[in-house]
Amino acid sequence: MTRAGIQKHLDIAPLLRCPICGSDLHARTASVACAAGHDFAVSSKGFLTLMARPVALKGYDGHFFESRRRVLDAGYYDAVRDALVEETASFGPGSLVVDAGCGEGTYAKAVSRAHGCDAIGLDLARDGIRCAARGGGRERWLIADLARIPLRDHVADAVLNVFTPANYAEFKRVLKPDGVLIKVVPAERHMVELRQLAAEHLAHAPFDDHGVAEHLARHMRIASRRRITQTSPVCRQDAGDLIRMSPVAFDIAEGQLDLDALASITVDAEIIVARP
Ligand SMILES: C[S@@+](CC[C@H](N)C(=O)[O-])C[C@H]1O[C@@H](n2cnc3c(N)ncnc32)[C@H](O)[C@@H]1O
Ligand SMILES: [Zn+2]
Repeated sequence: MTRAGIQKHLDIAPLLRCPICGSDLHARTASVACAAGHDFAVSSKGFLTLMARPVALKGYDGHFFESRRRVLDAGYYDAVRDALVEETASFGPGSLVVDAGCGEGTYAKAVSRAHGCDAIGLDLARDGIRCAARGGGRERWLIADLARIPLRDHVADAVLNVFTPANYAEFKRVLKPDGVLIKVVPAERHMVELRQLAAEHLAHAPFDDHGVAEHLARHMRIASRRRITQTSPVCRQDAGDLIRMSPVAFDIAEGQLDLDALASITVDAEIIVARP
């Protein structure tokens, strides 16, 4: 990796805190460290691991993130990406957007490149962060737990949280007082065609939004809610990727599903904007 790939992570040391003891991290030659001696090297692959110990999440492996990257690149989620770019339009150079649960990093890159703001993507999954860090760029990537975000208090202008679990106490802590949370959750028709295809293999469970908005409203002030729906025709070569990139099919062996039967796919999501 180039010196620039290391340096961009050292440059954000003034925003970071130790995931082990919570004290401030400071830049060293090729690592960040706290006064208690906890030291975290910048990886030669262009990211920083800020965890006491690695965690393996079922299903979130290299195949998942490579497939997800191809599906996002093919445009199936463009409506979600465009909505996130719109919702962050007031941010520019000098603003910081944090993508909590960024996966392979497409949305953090889209927002920072559209507006010229800084972006930090964090995710528990090492394979996701490795995929995000590939190809360089100005964004910073952390292997980290969103339930224990290794950022100092009130440093972020926006937190993105897309198809990923939340921790609102942590989001509020890292957001500036006038910052904004932009949360994307699946809506009723999300991946409906894939769920229909998989129905015979899955226990029937009606759609349940798990009261996300109500739960969020107990922690933060909801400023807006809107629905984004995009239905796209599926070409045969993308069908396998759509199955591999969706937690819907985590428990189904790929060969059990008839890929030719997946003629279209719907991305149906709600974008919830909230303030501390
Ligand atoms: C369905 S994926 C969505 C990824 C990305 N936001 C996207 O929309 O493509 C869910 C992500 O949440 C991450 N995740 C789950 N629990 C997490 C936690 N406690 N801290 C950080 N990331 C977490 C997973 O590793 C995975 O990348
Ligand atoms: Zn420490």
